[in-house]
Amino acid sequence: MHTEVKHPLLQHRIAILRDVKTDCKLFRELVGEITRFLAFEALRDLPTEPVSVRTPMGEAAGAKIKGHVVVAPILRAGLGMLDSMLEILPYATAGVIGMKRNEETAEPIPYYLNLPKAWPDSYVVLVDPMLATGGSACDAIATLKKNGFSKITFLNVISCPEGIARVEREHPDVPVFTAAIDDRLNDHHYIVPGLGDAGDRLFGTL
Ligand code: PRP
Ligand code: URA
Repeated sequence: MHTEVKHPLLQHRIAILRDVKTDCKLFRELVGEITRFLAFEALRDLPTEPVSVRTPMGEAAGAKIKGHVVVAPILRAGLGMLDSMLEILPYATAGVIGMKRNEETAEPIPYYLNLPKAWPDSYVVLVDPMLATGGSACDAIATLKKNGFSKITFLNVISCPEGIARVEREHPDVPVFTAAIDDRLNDHHYIVPGLGDAGDRLFGTL
């Protein structure tokens, strides 16, 4: 299942994000802001438990988030989304998944993994700004499942039909929330029109 989150506040930021003239500092700020909007939509079903809160005026019935929330960025570019997620989920833990695409084949090569313990009530929010062939996302999801995580939601900024189809085929239980579904992949496995290489734009390594 996938959802393209459409909102003028998001679309405005994505237009600036894509712009080849947008510098590194602004690019980082925009990825952070877009992540907050995406999370607001994607985490509607985050489990909660009822609580009662004493206000200066009396008792209020409320809800607090239940369970162990884990934010899992795919390195490098997923790091651009991590701080925003931890700002809105300050009690969450982070699990890091290092992966680098082979430039010829686009096959992901795993190089680092550090995950917290998986609990029965763990809820993972996997983050990566780009969903191209879907290889990195699918491998990351398979790794999370192998390590005991079963409830996983994927947040992404720019995707394309090929990547979405692959995640839906290999991991139909993982909802994908994306801010834009672009036209296609080019011969070098880059999203068109996309925004170029998200990691390079975030970290200034162009
Ligand atoms: C990019 C991006 C995703 C992946 C998407 O990472 O951040 O992780 O490519 O492509 P895919 O859907 O075809 O797997 P990259 O491997 O370039 O590493 P980087 O973030 O370190 O630049
Ligand atoms: N990774 C990126 O950073 N950009 C793309 O277009 C595809 C993969």
